[in-house]
Amino acid sequence: MRVLVTGAYGMLGREVVAASRDAGHDTEARDLDTLDISDRAALDEALADLDPDVVVNCAGWTDVDGAEEHEAQALHVNGTAPGVLAAATAAAGVRVVHVSTDYVFPGDASEPYVESSPTGPRSAYGRTKLAGEHAVAAANPDHVIARTAWLFGLHGKNFVDTMLALGAERETLRVVDDQTGCPTWAGHLAPALITLAEREATGLFHTAGGGSCTWFELAREALAATGSPCRVEPTTTDEFPRPAPRPAYSVLATERAADGVVLPPWREGLAGYLAERASFDSRTTAGGPR
Ligand SMILES: NC(=O)c1ccc[n+]([C@@H]2O[C@H](COP(=O)([O-])OP(=O)(O)OC[C@H]3O[C@@H](n4cnc5c(N)ncnc54)[C@H](OP(=O)(O)O)[C@@H]3O)[C@@H](O)[C@H]2O)c1
Repeated sequence: MRVLVTGAYGMLGREVVAASRDAGHDTEARDLDTLDISDRAALDEALADLDPDVVVNCAGWTDVDGAEEHEAQALHVNGTAPGVLAAATAAAGVRVVHVSTDYVFPGDASEPYVESSPTGPRSAYGRTKLAGEHAVAAANPDHVIARTAWLFGLHGKNFVDTMLALGAERETLRVVDDQTGCPTWAGHLAPALITLAEREATGLFHTAGGGSCTWFELAREALAATGSPCRVEPTTTDEFPRPAPRPAYSVLATERAADGVVLPPWREGLAGYLAERASFDSRTTAGGPR
């Protein structure tokens, strides 16, 4: 299969390129500097030149707080551009796999959200991502929209890295314990997206790490697993006001296990990430490639 990855140099994109190559696919990587997914002419040219069977779109505006102040720009990247990409792929007869988020939900549930649960984003980021879902679904019938959450991986700024860095400097950390979600390792999500790209099933899929926890629990687990002496204490969202409202409960589960992909539990994802991180650090320390 020929795979084109857009937004290929981001945290998820890099993993998707690697997973696609590992699966034996002929894989092309493009990011904003070489293929802007809002540029229809550039997309038409790239699709004609590269002739992919599927495009996996990892491009996005991921600054959740920044989107509150710059919603129009976030909407351009997360809402309008995926529609342009979906229309270009549809015209070329190419399948599209697009990545979305748990933030499309209001976050006030007490049961996990499944694919058919009603959406209702509370943040600008969530609104722009939901607009992208609608645009992709409307423009290309051969689409997959994979919602994920709380992503961490080697190639981007993420919560686990932040906690480990702060834990190395401080004796105590206070972390919010009233937001529950599904931590997801990019190393688990990327091959799942390639599997969805290979299949024929279309529509919405929930693809997040199994189980759920709070940010406090995730931080405590990450610090304990790395032997950090830093103590982690629970606190509340009210004590850490942020520009964008965060969902209190945005756990994703799937009602499409039969034709979707069920990711391993988040604890396995965390363990996999910490092992990958440790081996990456030792290679870097030894002068290897970063
Ligand atoms: N991170 C999370 O916790 C999380 C959770 C749920 C869902 N997601 C979704 O997962 C996807 C990947 O997220 P990520 O964390 O890997 O994001 P990321 O690290 O910010 O990567 C996004 C990439 O997209 C590129 N990009 C921006 N505008 C573009 C455009 N118009 N055309 C082509 N490329 C463009 C960015 O380039 P520049 O850096 O040059 O702008 C960047 O390389 C996104 O759809 C995001 O909404 C992420």
